[in-house]
Amino acid sequence: DAGHYDTGGYEHYLLKEICEQPDTVARALRGRIDDRFHIAHLGGLNMDARELRSFRRVKIIGCGSAYYSGQMGAQLIEELARIPADAEPASEFRYRNPVVEGDTLYVAVSQSGETYDTLAAVQELKRKGARVLGIVNTVGSAIARECDGGVYLHAGPEVSVASTKAFTSTAVVFALLALHLGRVRDLSPAEGKRICDGLRRLPEQIKEILTLEEQIRELAIKYSDAPGMMFVGRVRGFPVAREGAQKLKEVSYIHAEAYPASELKHGPLALISPELPTVAIVPDDELLDKNLTTLEEIRARNGRIVMVGHRATDAADDCIVVPKNENELDPILLTIPLQLFAYHAAVALGRDVDKPRNLAKSVTVE
Ligand code: AGP
Repeated sequence: DAGHYDTGGYEHYLLKEICEQPDTVARALRGRIDDRFHIAHLGGLNMDARELRSFRRVKIIGCGSAYYSGQMGAQLIEELARIPADAEPASEFRYRNPVVEGDTLYVAVSQSGETYDTLAAVQELKRKGARVLGIVNTVGSAIARECDGGVYLHAGPEVSVASTKAFTSTAVVFALLALHLGRVRDLSPAEGKRICDGLRRLPEQIKEILTLEEQIRELAIKYSDAPGMMFVGRVRGFPVAREGAQKLKEVSYIHAEAYPASELKHGPLALISPELPTVAIVPDDELLDKNLTTLEEIRARNGRIVMVGHRATDAADDCIVVPKNENELDPILLTIPLQLFAYHAAVALGRDVDKPRNLAKSVTVE
């Protein structure tokens, strides 16, 4: 039930929630950046610097898009705090009798805070004595209550079944957590400042990306007759590709597969043809040349390419060019054109955008 929260003049909640992101990201950041010491203020963690320094590993759990945002988070934590980190679907985690270690920080991600698989995983962790933080949108939800501490997204209600603003806010909170963990370990003040400045630029840059809506709508229409799409990204770009494929599947019902760009030649390259266009995430970072080589490989097999990145290239049929931030924070921005792409493909195909078939907003059963 959306209660008093309506579509505010937008045709669908999904579009409204995509367009809210300059505000929701600003809210995720509000009061949490310290300009003097270039650290993050995350009072809800309920853990002091000494405890935070004691963790040797970070394990992130969540389902669906929450899991993909966790993959983004794991990379941020490894890059900024240099702590080994990885993400796993909460559902898999709870069924495989995981080794629970005292020096691992567990982080549960959930928009609703009510996803049963994630809740059950948190309860199992607590039973085994783990320290668990929650990154949750819904205040007072079951998962939030079960955790030792955490960070709320403050993104407001998310009504559309397909998650958008909660995804980007989660990634922003992970960047803050990574900054925080980094600054109590060995991230320098200068590096901390670089990340703080980058975070502060995000809301304006999201606004710029939203002005690309008409171009993205045209591309979505152009590609919406494809029976399937491939999404590829490398390292930081891979969670972006996974989330892009997830959005397209959920709302347009177009088959979409996400692959690390580096893995294409180990199998899925056999699928490439004009019938299976590729969305390629190509940030302007140290992996740019490798990604451009991948585009050439796809091109050589007559694959059509939509490139999402920071500078247009002839190697792609179509390019969506977004503003550049710091390399570590770029994935947050690169996700947004893919949300608009999925939305407009779904509209073009006449889908039930806010309530896709077979899906529930929160999966509260096993
Ligand atoms: C996202 O678009 C999906 N609808 C779904 O994967 C969702 O993210 C997942 O079910 C987890 O939900 P939660 O964040 O409320 O726990």
